[in-house]
Amino acid sequence: MSVSFTIGETAPADEPRISPLYASAFPEEELVPLVEALLPEPGVLSLSARIGAALIGHVLFTRGALEGRPEIVALLGPLAVHPDHQRRGIGKALIAEGLARLTTEGVTQVLVLGDPAYYRGSGFRPASRVTPPYPLPAEWTEAWQWQRLDGGDDNLAGRLLLPKAWMRPELWG
Ligand SMILES: CC(C)(COP(=O)(O)OP(=O)(O)OC[C@H]1O[C@@H](n2cnc3c(N)ncnc32)[C@H](O)[C@@H]1OP(=O)(O)O)[C@@H](O)C(=O)NCCC(=O)NCCS
Repeated sequence: MSVSFTIGETAPADEPRISPLYASAFPEEELVPLVEALLPEPGVLSLSARIGAALIGHVLFTRGALEGRPEIVALLGPLAVHPDHQRRGIGKALIAEGLARLTTEGVTQVLVLGDPAYYRGSGFRPASRVTPPYPLPAEWTEAWQWQRLDGGDDNLAGRLLLPKAWMRPELWG
């Protein structure tokens, strides 16, 4: 069965549906407090995927900076697709929409901490040289991924500066 979904900026009507979506997509992980802390942040891009009025996918991108550098960067995550709708291109479409919007506004680079097997398909490359807020376990080096949005090819380095919702060591290892 083909699914017809739409993607757009998260609307007030989506908001009460976001926490239950993360709870169903990640029953083992406590992502809801992070998502709820990020949603009101002014530097956060929040996109929702819907079928009709039902929320079936959601992603956040947090804009940030690299210490001492002029570039604006963004961190992708969390990302969730409802278990009934996974593997139908919805996660990929949410990422693509976010990257397109961030490219238009001049964001230089996007970072993500996640499964390289998944994020490779959206253009991410392993082993960013950006220093995350807390040191990552050595086995996560490949999972700390990057992609340039400005056509550049350098693996930028620098200490990542993010809003305080991200400043919790348990989110990084
Ligand atoms: C991970 C998640 C966001 C992916 O969203 P999705 O809508 O199911 O994924 P998509 O259909 O957009 O997949 C895009 C591509 O990645 C592949 N893919 C999907 N899930 C994958 C996975 N876990 N590992 C590797 N590749 C995966 C798909 O086959 C597809 O490949 P294609 O473009 O060549 O067809 C979603 O499944 C989810 O919310 N899962 C929650 C639990 C989980 O698995 N978390 C682990 C990842 S952090």
